[in-house]
Formats: sequence, structure tokens, C-alpha cells
Amino acid sequence: MRTILLGPPGAGKGTQAAKIVEKYNIPHISTGDIFRENISKGTALGKKAKEYMDKGELVPDDLVIEIATDRLLADDCKKGFILDGFPRTVHQAEKLDEFLKQHDMPLTVVINLEVEDKVLMERITGRRVCPKCGASYHVTGMPPKKEGICDVCGSELVQRKDDNVETATNRISVYNKQTKPLIDYYEKAGIIANIDGSTPLPVTFKNVSAALEA
Ligand code: AP5
Repeated sequence: MRTILLGPPGAGKGTQAAKIVEKYNIPHISTGDIFRENISKGTALGKKAKEYMDKGELVPDDLVIEIATDRLLADDCKKGFILDGFPRTVHQAEKLDEFLKQHDMPLTVVINLEVEDKVLMERITGRRVCPKCGASYHVTGMPPKKEGICDVCGSELVQRKDDNVETATNRISVYNKQTKPLIDYYEKAGIIANIDGSTPLPVTFKNVSAALEA
């Protein structure tokens, strides 16, 4: 199972990826998570990525392609992988295709989660994440059992720095300009499954699972 989760910010890519990992036991590769980890460790990559992420802009292609393809070379990716948030430009998609062809790892399916902008904004601004274990919640839609506290590890939940209205507005606009063309790109390749990402989580996951197993 080699899959890409495509969709605008807040579409539910990370949420669906966590369910896929649980059910199918394949690695989840999120370029956003890799950057955030580097930011929290204060690495050179993290410092560079932060300049772009704080504004809701895309990190330059060369940086992203290198970290994503390096990660795909790890042993655990031999049994499959879920790419979340990569590729995000046509150039990244072309480079990924070259890499996958070279390593005889053809994609199984590209899951495109469709959600309208108004819902995206509510989801992004209401999201709370655990800085320790990475679990994700929503203040009204998927609240933790105890307000502000992670169900999994008991840490205090935080809001992502780019989850404010101004930055999220730019992230959605950047998605529409630079990432949306990938829908056409993968439609032409005949491997896209368009799924309504605005349905309740179990319904969306049922549809995602059906597309993965088709
Ligand atoms: P990244 O971390 O990838 O963020 P994103 O794509 O903006 O996506 P999000 O994490 O915001 O949303 P999601 O779709 O995962 O939604 P989630 O499941 O959390 O990227 C961040 C930044 O890193 C970029 O802006 C860029 O700067 C940089 N970057 C990363 N990759 C890059 C690349 N390839 N190239 C260049 N730059 C790159 O859900 C959102 C909320 O909704 C949650 O609260 C959740 O609980 C709730 N929710 C989810 N599903 C449902 C549902 N079905 N019903 C109700 N609520 C739901």
C-alpha cells in the first residue's frame, strides 16, 4: 500500500493517516511533522523551514524533496507508506515519480480529501495538538476527555503557530494556487480517489479504507 493523502490544510489528512496506521500498520510520513520536529529541536533545517511555515508559505522544493525521499529509503517503507502533505507542487510530484520509478515502488492510490473552505477554517482554528505524542483534537468536533489535556499521554495541548486565521487564509490560498493542480496531475495518471472529507470521521475513514483496498 503506497499512498498519498492530498487535500487542503485542515482537510483531515493527519487524522485519516493516524487511522490508516492503526488499521494497516504502514509508516506515516508527514513533511509538516518532520519540519515541526526540526523546529522544536532547533536544527538548521528547522530554522529555515520556520521562516516559510510561520507565513503559511511553502518550504522550497529542494529542501522538501530531499527529506521526503531520504525518509522513503528507510527499511520500514518497504511494506508501504502514507505520504501526508507531500508532494505539494507539480515539481515535487515529478521528482517523486522519478524517485519511485527508480526504486520500483509504484503508487497504489492518491486519496484526495475534499472539504469546502469555510469548514477548513473552523477545523484549523479549533485544532489542538499534543506537543509530546502528536495526538490531534478539535475543541468542539473531537474534544479530549479533559479540556486542554491529551487523552493519550496527559500532556497539555497547544495550538499550532500557523493555526490562526491570517496564516490559515494564506495556507488555503497557497494550496489553491500551488497544490490543487496535483488533482489534475494524478487524475491524468488514473490513480486518484476523490473522497468527501467533510463527513464524520468514521464515515470518511470507511470511504478511505474502501479506496485503499480497491
Ligand atoms: P502540514 O503540517 O502538512 O499542514 P497542512 O497541509 O496545512 O495540513 P494540516 O495539518 O493543517 O491539516 P490536515 O489535513 O492534516 O488536517 P487534520 O487531520 O489535522 O504543513 C504545514 C506547513 O509545512 C506548510 O504550510 C508548509 O509551510 C510546510 N510544508 C509541509 N509539507 C510541505 C511540502 N511538501 N512542500 C512545501 N512546504 C511544506 O484535521 C484538522 C482538524 O479537523 C483537527 O482538529 C481534526 O480533529 C479535525 N477533523 C479532521 N477530520 C475531521 C472530520 N471528518 N470531522 C470533523 N473534524 C475533523
